[in-house]
Amino acid sequence: MLKGKHLLEPMDFSVEELDEIFDLAERIIEDPQKYKHVCDGKLLATLFFEPSTRTRLSFEAAMLRLGGQVLGFSEASSSSIAKGESIADTVRTVAAYADIIVMRHPKEGAPRIGSGFSDIPLVNAGDGGHQHPTQTLTDLLTIRYTKQSFNNLTIGVCGDLKFGRTVHSLIKAMSRYPGNRFCLISPEELVIPEYVRKEVLQKNNITFREVRRLEDAIADLDVLYMTRVQRERFFNEEDYIRLKDSYILDADKMKLAKEDMIVLHPLPRVNEIAVEVDQDSRALYFKQARYGMYVRMALMMKLLGADEGGVN
Ligand code: CP
Repeated sequence: MLKGKHLLEPMDFSVEELDEIFDLAERIIEDPQKYKHVCDGKLLATLFFEPSTRTRLSFEAAMLRLGGQVLGFSEASSSSIAKGESIADTVRTVAAYADIIVMRHPKEGAPRIGSGFSDIPLVNAGDGGHQHPTQTLTDLLTIRYTKQSFNNLTIGVCGDLKFGRTVHSLIKAMSRYPGNRFCLISPEELVIPEYVRKEVLQKNNITFREVRRLEDAIADLDVLYMTRVQRERFFNEEDYIRLKDSYILDADKMKLAKEDMIVLHPLPRVNEIAVEVDQDSRALYFKQARYGMYVRMALMMKLLGADEGGVN
């Protein structure tokens, strides 16, 4: 039963609960008209303390497509946080106005702190370099829709594995399914954090290898998850400039990949996927962004206790 729950990390929900969300998302994709009034009268509050295009707008589109309404802010400077108000007081106040809160914040753990002051569901929309659970729902729905399974996949994650929160969440989530293997492709300076290597991969006896060159791994992959180098998390602009173009997926590299490999990217992209790859049928990142809206529709319905007949 997901009604009333918060979503702070991908592991907050069991595999069975995630399946419920994906089943519902697929039903919505098949017949979106059927769901256009199921959240009539419900209000979503979006509290974004960091920039966003996809996450904020897909949540807002999702609620509007379910018949509900939205309110919120897209930068801290337009809220009373700018006057020194705490996260706790902000969340407590907004929880008195809305039915569900979505929060993005640059500080790791901020949504968790907020959730302690919310008597309505609060969803983490990305906290610093930590977690981004609804991006993981998006990624998993895209994999399920195209591969029809979460099992026995070789998943390459490429780019900024140190600061890329979507990668940390994806590895955690896909480690729960049997037979998956990971190929971690990054420069030495941007390797996966030790806690992911030890607490997720090694602890669960997941097969993984670390490589420096995308060309050395791409032929083995079923899923290639590209990420941008996260400029906003660097302390030093020189390091960012040195590392930002470490990997560029182009048409020549795609020739080395399997015919049914899929390319995912949480977006925004900077240079790491050449625009020419967009024409390749294996490039799914814009479809993935659309699936993100459907999976957020399903998630909010579950957290609000709504089904095809409306809110219960
Ligand atoms: N994937 C993602 O989180 O994109 P935004 O930063 O645009 O929300």
